[in-house]
Amino acid sequence: MSTVQANPQVRTVASSQSEMTEVILPNDANTLGNLLGGRLMHFIDLTGAIAAYRHSRTHVVTAAMDHIDFIQPVHVGDLLILKSSVNRAFNSSLEVGVKVWVEDPQTGTHLHVASAYLVFVAVDEHGRRQKLPQVQPETPDETRRYNDALLRRQHRESEAARRKQERRDTGLTRA
Ligand SMILES: CC(C)(COP(=O)(O)OP(=O)(O)OC[C@H]1O[C@@H](n2cnc3c(N)ncnc32)[C@H](O)[C@@H]1OP(=O)(O)O)[C@@H](O)C(=O)NCCC(=O)NCCS
Repeated sequence: MSTVQANPQVRTVASSQSEMTEVILPNDANTLGNLLGGRLMHFIDLTGAIAAYRHSRTHVVTAAMDHIDFIQPVHVGDLLILKSSVNRAFNSSLEVGVKVWVEDPQTGTHLHVASAYLVFVAVDEHGRRQKLPQVQPETPDETRRYNDALLRRQHRESEAARRKQERRDTGLTRA
């Protein structure tokens, strides 16, 4: 891809933190009236993209979404609360963490539904990768997430290399 362009800025986590609340409607649900997993992933992608957009102030595309466990069912009429923050920026990519809760609208109780890490890549209007501002962690939690994001990046890279080799070995891609 094209040469990465210079952008020396540093941004705090707080400056791009985002939150979205959705009421779950029948169109979001399966035949049991539970929120569809794919719809939940759509909301996670959107909430993650908003934080990535605020951090980068340019276009972002989703490069990867890590493993997700669906911990609690969410029913029609429930409120879904999603919060996202940028854990760390690298060159043109950044990792966002998204955490999701369901709120019972009658009682106000919150239960954890799912968490996910996503990687977005910053691009300009022609799809050319853009150099990102770095993240400045300010709290112990932000520092822990910042450090862990590097380990997850290394793990993703080694897994991607392993899958690529597997595709070559099975003849699914050209050598
Ligand atoms: C994501 C995409 C831009 C990466 O392009 P690419 O040519 O593979 O780019 P590179 O290999 O040069 O990698 C660019 C960055 O993306 C990261 N990246 C690429 N693929 C990745 C993956 N599968 N998981 C995590 N990070 C990834 C690289 O680590 C690199 O990060 P860095 O710049 O911070 O070091 C390209 O694969 C793409 O356009 N994919 C489709 C995106 C899309 O349509 N998403 C859904 C709709 S928004």
